[in-house]
Amino acid sequence: MIGSHRLRRLAPLGVAAVLALALAACAQSYPNTTFTPHSDLGRSIDFLWNRLMFFGTIVFVLVEGALIYVVIRYRRRSEDVTPPQTHGHVLLEITWTLIPAAILAFIAVPTVRTIFQTQAPAPANSLVIEVYGHQWWWEFHYPQYNFTTANEIYIPKGRTVDLVLRSKDVIHSFWVPQLAGKRDAIPNHTNHIWFTPDSNMATTVWNGFCTEYCGDSHGEMHFRVVTVNPDQFASWVTRQQAPGFFSPPPAPAAPAAPAAGATPAAPAAPTPAAPTATPAQLAAYILPRAQVPDYAIPHTPFPDAIKFDDKLQGDPAAGEKLFVGAGTCNACHTVAGNPLAVGMIGPNLTHVGSRIAIAAGMYVNDKPHLSRWIKNARLMKSGVLMPTLGKGQYDPQTKATTPSGLSDQQVADLVAYLQALK
Ligand code: CUA
Repeated sequence: MIGSHRLRRLAPLGVAAVLALALAACAQSYPNTTFTPHSDLGRSIDFLWNRLMFFGTIVFVLVEGALIYVVIRYRRRSEDVTPPQTHGHVLLEITWTLIPAAILAFIAVPTVRTIFQTQAPAPANSLVIEVYGHQWWWEFHYPQYNFTTANEIYIPKGRTVDLVLRSKDVIHSFWVPQLAGKRDAIPNHTNHIWFTPDSNMATTVWNGFCTEYCGDSHGEMHFRVVTVNPDQFASWVTRQQAPGFFSPPPAPAAPAAPAAGATPAAPAAPTPAAPTATPAQLAAYILPRAQVPDYAIPHTPFPDAIKFDDKLQGDPAAGEKLFVGAGTCNACHTVAGNPLAVGMIGPNLTHVGSRIAIAAGMYVNDKPHLSRWIKNARLMKSGVLMPTLGKGQYDPQTKATTPSGLSDQQVADLVAYLQALK
């Protein structure tokens, strides 16, 4: 009795606590929620979810209510009396077979219709993006515009995007919660997911995730999707098509005037022109860093074990030389326009300087993080292929210290070069 008395006193407190929790939840914003869809596919899935919850709740309340009623109403009231035993009731049997069948029809018809809609081929004029899952980063190729990028894509609002999902190693899964559902990227198999981002939403950044366990750094296999207006998208495309460049190319030096009387020297063979960008490409659209919402900026701190003098000034030209030096960065990375940088193992770095994050969304793309990443990536992300490059750094994969390697000044030069690749 004392127990039930205390229970009665505590009940209002419990109800108040639950209500306070529910109200507190309303005040938060959830950037990675699936419950505020911003595409047609997202809304179809949301509709199915709401319908399932609605009928599921009705069934739950009715069944649990009936159960509790029967347990109390027909309980054994005395040790001496056995309650009446009944078996079989045709009307009841028919009723509780027909009602679930009707409910299932209400759920199954829209579910099957949505499955057929979303498995159908994408409309012919869709924007195609080929997506390749890697351990642990994402490669994105725009075949209609002929460029490749990594871990960050722009898509135009109001135009259907057809993502062609493949994997280069193990099974990954592509998921942008606010835009669409999950779909696997499977080796030796092509999957599609297509949706049309809402045309009336604000230009913003959405977080994307790998949602199929794929090894050590599965939890650090993120990407960003930036939804922009069609004209901003067209502008961004022109920049992505431009070669990687770090500064306006120097004007060719005027040939020295020949000394009087001397035969003019034969003109030197023209050096191959450095890749350049047109003024339109230089002025092309990139979401300004100030407009990137905080939830899309990684806040992972770098490990204190990697020391670096952040005051060192880098030289981008020296960095480019290092980048394409024998067996260095160019063995794995491509910088479009540079014939010496065509590696295919790591992310394409043509415009890496304009990306929000590095290491597939794990660290913010700034000098302190990028320099330490180059120095000792393996200490910053478990299992990465990127080797430990800093001189005297301990490599946690080979369990050895790198005797030779890059000095801090060389790392600073590389950072200056990469940051300039906008
Ligand atoms: Cu890729 Cu999990």
